[in-house]
Amino acid sequence: MSRKVIVTGGAGVIGQAICRRLVEGGFEPVAADLKDAVEALDLAAPALAGVTSVVMDVTDRGSVEQAVAGAVAPGETLRGVVNCAGILRDSFLGELDEAKLDLMFQVNIAGMARVTDVCAPLLAEGGAIVNVGSLTGHFGRFRGASVYGATKAGIAAYTRYTAEELAERGIRVNNVAPGVIRAPMSPSMARVSGGEELSASYAMLKRIGEPHEVAEAVEFLLSDRASFITAQTLLVDGGVVAW
Ligand SMILES: NC(=O)c1ccc[n+]([C@@H]2O[C@H](COP(=O)([O-])OP(=O)(O)OC[C@H]3O[C@@H](n4cnc5c(N)ncnc54)[C@H](O)[C@@H]3O)[C@@H](O)[C@H]2O)c1
Repeated sequence: MSRKVIVTGGAGVIGQAICRRLVEGGFEPVAADLKDAVEALDLAAPALAGVTSVVMDVTDRGSVEQAVAGAVAPGETLRGVVNCAGILRDSFLGELDEAKLDLMFQVNIAGMARVTDVCAPLLAEGGAIVNVGSLTGHFGRFRGASVYGATKAGIAAYTRYTAEELAERGIRVNNVAPGVIRAPMSPSMARVSGGEELSASYAMLKRIGEPHEVAEAVEFLLSDRASFITAQTLLVDGGVVAW
C-alpha cells in the first residue's frame, strides 16, 4: 500500500514535527503549504530527511487540485491526509474584522473540506485522515478567540460526518485538538491566550505542550495501531478541558 501522506500546513511548526514523526513511522509525508512557507523549508536538513513538499493554498480549489496532482502520480494512491493548515486571528466583539473572519473560515474549515474532497477519492482502503483542531473549540477561556474557536469546534463535527461517509471504504477520520503548543506566538495568539505562563496554568500538567507531542498523536491515529478508532477528537492539551 502507498505510504504517502499529504500534510497541509506542513511547513509550519507543528506541521514539520508531524512530517518528521511520519518519516519515523515509515510514511512518506508531503508538506503542502503556501509558496513562501515551502520556499523557506530546508528539505536538505537532516531533520527533514524523507520529507517532500508541494505548494498549496487551501483557500483555492484549483491550487489544491494542482498540488495533489503534482504529489500523487496517476494510478498512485494516498495513505493519508493531515489537515494541519490553520490560522488564528483575534476577533474581540466590537472589533470584528471581516477579512480576518473570512480568512479563518476559508483556511480552517473550507480549506480542510476542500483538501478532503480532492484527496478522498485517492485514499486507499485502510487509509486515514487526521484533522488538527484545537483546545479552543472545546473551551471558552481564550477571550477574543470566538471565531477561531468556532472554526476549530466545526472541525470536530466535520470529522464525525466525514468518518461516517468514508467508513464504508475502511478509511478512518479523527481530530487531534492541541492545547497551547510551544511555537512563536503571533500577536493574536499572545493576545487571546495571555501568553505561555498563563496558558500553562490552565493545564493539569502545568506546562504548555511541545510540537512532537502533537505529532505523536497524529502519527498514532494515522497508523494501523489505531485501526478501530474513528470519528474521535483527541485532546492533546495536558488536561485543560477535562479540568
Ligand atoms: N501552536 C498552537 O499552540 C496550536 C494550538 C492548537 C491548535 N493549533 C493548530 O495547529 C495547526 C498548526 O499550527 P502551528 O502552531 O504549527 O502554526 P504555524 O503558523 O507554524 O503553521 C500553520 C501553517 O499553515 C500554513 N497555512 C496558512 N494558510 C494556509 C493556506 N491558505 N494554505 C496552505 N497552508 C496555509 C502556514 O503557512 C503555516 O505553515 C493549526 O491548524 C493551528 O490552528 C496550534
